[in-house]
Order: sequence, then structure tokens, then C-alpha cells
Amino acid sequence: MKEVKEGQRDISIFRALWKLLAVMVKAAPVLFIVDIVLSVFHGMSWGVETMMQQRFFDRAVGMAGGTVSFWRALLALVGLGLANVICQVLNGICNFMPMVVERRAGARLSAAIHEKIARLEPAVFDDTKRLEDINKAEEGKTHAFWFVENILSIFDFYLPYFLFMGWYLFSLKPILAAAILIVFIPTALAQVIRTKVFSHLEDVSAPQRRKYEYYESCIVDREYFKETRLLGGFFYFKKLYLDTLDCMQRLSYKATMKSNLFELAMRLLAVGGYCGILFLLYDALMKGEVTVGAFAAVFHSVGALYAIMEEVVCGHMGEVAKSAGAIRNFLRFLDLEESTRQGMQSAGWGDIVLENVCFSYPDAPGEAVHNVNLTLKRGETLAVVGENGSGKSTLIRLISGLYTPSSGSVRHNGIETKSLSFASLFARTSAVFQKYQRYQMTLEENITISAVQKGSGEKELNRVCAMAGTDAADPAFPEGYQTMLSREFDGVDLSGGQWQRVAIARGFFRDHDLIILDEPTAAIDPYEETQIYNRFAEISKDRSAVIVTHRLGSVKLADRIAVMKEGELVQLGTHEELIAQEGEYRRLYDAQRQWYGEEQQPAG
Ligand SMILES: Nc1ncnc2c1ncn2[C@@H]1O[C@H](COP(=O)(O)OP(=O)(O)OP(=O)(O)O)[C@@H](O)[C@H]1O
Ligand SMILES: [Mg+2]
Repeated sequence: MKEVKEGQRDISIFRALWKLLAVMVKAAPVLFIVDIVLSVFHGMSWGVETMMQQRFFDRAVGMAGGTVSFWRALLALVGLGLANVICQVLNGICNFMPMVVERRAGARLSAAIHEKIARLEPAVFDDTKRLEDINKAEEGKTHAFWFVENILSIFDFYLPYFLFMGWYLFSLKPILAAAILIVFIPTALAQVIRTKVFSHLEDVSAPQRRKYEYYESCIVDREYFKETRLLGGFFYFKKLYLDTLDCMQRLSYKATMKSNLFELAMRLLAVGGYCGILFLLYDALMKGEVTVGAFAAVFHSVGALYAIMEEVVCGHMGEVAKSAGAIRNFLRFLDLEESTRQGMQSAGWGDIVLENVCFSYPDAPGEAVHNVNLTLKRGETLAVVGENGSGKSTLIRLISGLYTPSSGSVRHNGIETKSLSFASLFARTSAVFQKYQRYQMTLEENITISAVQKGSGEKELNRVCAMAGTDAADPAFPEGYQTMLSREFDGVDLSGGQWQRVAIARGFFRDHDLIILDEPTAAIDPYEETQIYNRFAEISKDRSAVIVTHRLGSVKLADRIAVMKEGELVQLGTHEELIAQEGEYRRLYDAQRQWYGEEQQPAG
């Protein structure tokens, strides 16, 4: 049996249309409806123009034969002119209106993506497949409006036109109405194939596109390019970039060739049908079944009909087909499973208890954290130490509630984190992350990002800056708190250590009962690091804190120390207790003492 891959279930074009329509109508309801009504009139105005042409030709022929007066012929000409003017005016309006709606709808669709991202579990961002879904959704969003507009135009513009023309041709000679079907069916079939081919293309090329965008950023982005150049990586990245581009082009070429060949065959069929209709028309004229005026108008209009059908099928339906894959990805993303933690109760501040906690990253082999039991008492400072990759960062993400354990439980004040809303979980939590952010904004904004709207007094800013070992009066900040920390926006850049102090000030600025510091001082010189920790210990006396650090000299300030090894909590106790034991902590401590040139104490 064919396995149905997760997220690959097909969403029909009509379901996609229905879902997107709802967003568009909400974005600009009045404009949207006016646009549809005018499009219907626009479509019919083309048919009316054809009828006016017939009337004018008939009267002109009549005038030449002396059976129709000059004034009646002139009246037919004025009618034709008027129909043409109305047609052109409606054409202009109908070209302009969608652009206005597009702008509003685009903003709504972006908001839908952002809101969705906010409702996903944070661990989703460690899942390559999900990252791909987000990337695909962004691509789909750019096609969404024209996807809807193109399909709608088939119903609100072309269909009224074809129905009107069908009725008109039928009234002249029933077989002529078949012209519409003969031209339509083969070209429509070609597009069905096209939809399938391009849907598949979008699925297979999305991972390639992500790679190619990444390689490009390694060559040109400010963040990467210095290292890429200096280490001579430029040519390697260029090769990877070109190889991926080549692969994408090959995929695209194959898909385009396949659908174009089928389309060519279908078009030949349509042209055959078109010639047949012209023959029937000629035959009807010779037999006197249609007037000369009707012959001229229909001759002209069947040509226009064919051109319009081409426009619908190859232009509009072609675009729909091409973008259908991207649109489906966009809708699949909106359907992704959301965090169930929305709108749930608040825990309040208390002990944090971990019971048999295990966690594995999506698609990663094995567990990053295995069977951890630990209680962080209210107001306690806990240090977490261990070698690289031992699970420290993962553990603190579990403690904070950012990640939900794969098994076991994390309770904040007695309530499991998985039943708490993110808003209530994080309301009184602050953090300085190992990979902290460098916001390209002013120094003040960088510090107050958690409560910019509240505003902040200079006194409070000075207090947190002093704690983090930074000072807005420093020459590094020529405009004090208003210094723009970005070269791109005509500001200044900081050294790694200066940036880290800003991140620490940001963590200290946020009101908190629990603070999490993941190697917050890795880029800061040892002297300043000690000062920061001492100041931190003073203000954290009555708050819970978890500090991850490799510098064991600073962990003594913690009430207890948790030692991680290969995902497991192997030791827990005070510095004195742990140093007295034969174990991982003393091994790490002794190794560092040697680095600092301290004399080694006899073991035990
Ligand atoms: N996003 C991820 N996806 C898959 N595996 C991951 C991810 N992040 C970490 N891991 C794995 O989980 C394990 C623990 O990683 P973690 O970042 O918690 O270690 P750490 O103790 O903080 O290391 P370091 O001292 O280097 O910061 C490692 O084996 C790592 O390879
Ligand atoms: Mg880490």
C-alpha cells in the first residue's frame, strides 16, 4: 500500500480557494465585492460589443443597398463606439482594483503566518522538516492573492463572457456554440497536467531552494562573509551555490518540457477545432443562414474568443497551476498542529520540579536529556555544568517550559508546563541565551525590548547597565542610549564582549521571578565576569536562577550545582559537597585549576 507521508495529503484547488477567499474578503470586503460585480459587467460588455458590431455591419450593408437610412447606420455606429468606451473604462477599473486588494490581502496573509508561528511549539524550530514548511509557506504567501484573483477572473469575467457569447452564437446557428467547447476542452486538459507537474516541482525544489539561499548568504551576508573570505571558503560556497542552482534549473527544465509538450499537442487539437468552426461559418453564409454582418462579427469574435481562451487557459490557469503547489504548502503550514497550551491557567511562582524528564530533538537519534529528576526551590540559584553537548542548554529550555519533555514531567508550582500557556509561563521569566540576539536598533531598544511600550527611566537603564558591566557614557556609544547599534542603519557596531553585556542588561531589565543564564559571559574577560556574577548574586537572593557556565570559578555563588554528562544528571550538591566526592565535578574542576595555574589539591 502506498504510504501517505505526513503533511503531503492533497488539498484540492477549491478547498484552497475557499480558505484563501475567506482571508481576502476579510482584508477588503467592499472593494472585493465591487471588483467581482464590475468584472461580471466587464465580461458581458465584450459580448455586447460583438452584438453591436453585427448591428453596425448589417446596417452599413443595408445602407449600401439602399434599404437602411444613413441615420440608422450612424446610430449603430454610435452604439458600437459607446460599447467600446464602456468596455475600455471597465477594463481600466478591473486592472486597477486587484492591486489595491492585493496590498491589503498581503498584509493579512503575512499576519496569518506570524500568528501561526506564535502558536507552534518552540521545539518545532529544531525540526528541519518544519523549517522547510515555514520556508515553503513564505513562498506560497507571495502567490496566494493572484492565485485567487486568477481563479475568480475565470468565474467573474471569462464565464459571463463565454456564456453571453455562447447564447449569441447559439441564437445565430446552434452548432457555432460548440466553438467554445472545442477550443476549451483540450487547452483545459493541458492545464490539469501542468498543475500536477508544477505541484510536484514545488515539493522537490523547496529543500534545494533553502540550501541555495543559505549558500548565497554564506557568500554575501555580513555575518558570514568575513570568515568565508579569510578562511578561503568563498570558492567552496560558490561551487555549492552553483551546483544547487544547477540542480534547481534541471528540475524546472524537466517539468517545463513535460508540460509544454502536452500543451503543444492539445493546442494543435484546438486549432483544428477553430478551423472547423470557421468553415461552418463560411458554409452558413454561403447558404444564406447568417447575415453578412453576423458573419463579420462572428468571424472577428471567434478569433477574439480563441485569443481570450488562450489567455484564460495558458495565462490565468497556467499561473494557477504553477502556484498551486506553493499555495498547498502555505495551507498545509496553516494546518500544522499547534501548541495545545493556548489560554490555559497560570501557575504562579514556586518550586520547579522535574520528574523522570527525557527529551529528544525531532528526527535526532537518541535523547539529549535522559531521566532527569531535580527540584529548583523557589528563590534558589542553581548552576548547571558539564562538557559540551552534555545537555545543559536543553535542560534549561525544559526547566523554563520552552520545550515540553518527550516523557516525564516539569511542574511549575505544581502545574505541568505542558498545560500552561506560554504567556503565563514566561510572564515572570527572563533569560540571557547562549546564542543571544544582536538587534539592529538603539541601545535603549536593545535593553528594553521586553517592555518598550512601557518606557523606561534613565535610572533603571543605568542600574541594569551597571550590573551588566556596561555604560551608556562609554565612547562606544556616541549617542548614549540612543546610539544605533547597526552599521547597516548608520550606527556603530560593538565588540563581541560589548554585545554580550548588552544582552545581559536586557535579561536583567525584564521583571522576573526566574532568570536563566546560558553561558552569559563566554565572551567577557574573566575580571569583569567575576564582577557581573557578584552583582548578579546580590540581586538574585530572593529569586530563582539557573546559570549554565563552563567557568567553574563562578559556580561557587550558586546554592547548588547540577552536573550533566551525556544527557544525564550525574551529580547534584553544593560546591563543597561535590568537590569532596570522586566524580565528574572534581574532574572538571581540577582540569580548570590546572589551566589557571592553580596548585592541585590532593583528592578527597
Ligand atoms: N536543535 C537540535 N537538534 C538536534 N539535536 C540537538 C539540537 N540541539 C542540540 N542537540 C543535541 O542535543 C545534545 C545536547 O545539546 P545541548 O545544546 O543541550 O548541549 P550543551 O550541554 O548545552 O552544550 P554546550 O556546552 O556546547 O552549549 C547534543 O548531543 C546536541 O547534539
Ligand atoms: Mg549549551
